[in-house]
Amino acid sequence: MRIALVGLGGMGSTHYLNYLHIPQAQVVAAVGQGEKDRARAAEWGLPLYATLTELCAVERVELADICAPTFLHKPLALEAFGLGLHVITEKPAALSLADAQEMYEAADRAGRHLYVAQVLQFTREVETLHEVVRDGRYGKPLDACFERLSARPGWVQGSWLFEKEKSGLLPFDLHIHDLDMMVSVFGEPQSVDYTSCAGPDAPCREQYRFRYAFAGGVTASAEAAWFNACLPFTARWRVYFERGLLVCDGGLTGYGADGTVTAFDVEDPVKVECGANLPPSGWFLRELSHFVERAKENRPSERVPREQVLSVLRTLEKIT
Ligand SMILES: NC(=O)c1ccc[n+]([C@@H]2O[C@H](COP(=O)([O-])OP(=O)(O)OC[C@H]3O[C@@H](n4cnc5c(N)ncnc54)[C@H](O)[C@@H]3O)[C@@H](O)[C@H]2O)c1
Repeated sequence: MRIALVGLGGMGSTHYLNYLHIPQAQVVAAVGQGEKDRARAAEWGLPLYATLTELCAVERVELADICAPTFLHKPLALEAFGLGLHVITEKPAALSLADAQEMYEAADRAGRHLYVAQVLQFTREVETLHEVVRDGRYGKPLDACFERLSARPGWVQGSWLFEKEKSGLLPFDLHIHDLDMMVSVFGEPQSVDYTSCAGPDAPCREQYRFRYAFAGGVTASAEAAWFNACLPFTARWRVYFERGLLVCDGGLTGYGADGTVTAFDVEDPVKVECGANLPPSGWFLRELSHFVERAKENRPSERVPREQVLSVLRTLEKIT
């Protein structure tokens, strides 16, 4: 699969470094802007273009991988589908449900597919959660809670992350990871309520606490924050079942009602260095390998399906 990489910042670098480990993927050219992108493309030996259209006039590519700022995902994806390419886009796919629907409809018209990089679906922890829910070893899920806490992200190029119309702010940018996980396990929430807070000099709401209710009586809570504090990045969750508890906090441990404690093996067999401030992992490798495989087969992803992406955005639109 011949790939055009769009955006060479934190995530563009992460995707590039992972593609180097995927034999059936080859990044052949890039789209970017500014001195940093030029320097990075030169370092990687990639021809750099200002637009996908200019790139496609010269290079033969089959897939565009969009790692540009969020507000550009939709126009870049529409451009790519117009050029007959498959599209991988970083999360969030778009900043509204209507925009994401338009992207999928453009993919349909082009006979191509849109793959949304909800990377947590490809972590061993979330893969195991799905297995445990499916095999019913602890019974049905009853409740869950999630935490995703970061220091204020000052490392992103420019200030787009703190502009609502460009990033969707904390709910669309950070909380989406946990919401996507919830929707994939419990379905679309039937209700959501939340509180949020911000200090006097904050660029946006800095901390949210959400409560969700799902069909069948399942409940969940979640906290997401860009704290004005030097807290190291923290992400953890637990799911309470009828006969046990699954706790993800560094490792993944199951505590059965029968007294059995299970330390699940969630170690990635292969770990790849990341360009962003993320630890080496196998997450992006599994994610991008899966998308490349599906694009080669010209099939949608069953691991990040369209309805899940749309459910998440429909829910996020209820949060201001
Ligand atoms: N999956 C994850 O865990 C994760 C983590 C961080 C960011 N993201 C997502 O990745 C995307 C990019 O975030 P980032 O942190 O890499 O941002 P970044 O600011 O580090 O990089 C953005 C890149 O896009 C380039 N760019 C800007 N305008 C462009 C244009 N018109 N055409 C092509 N390239 C353009 C910039 O020059 C830069 O190279 C965002 O949508 C973000 O939500 C995902």
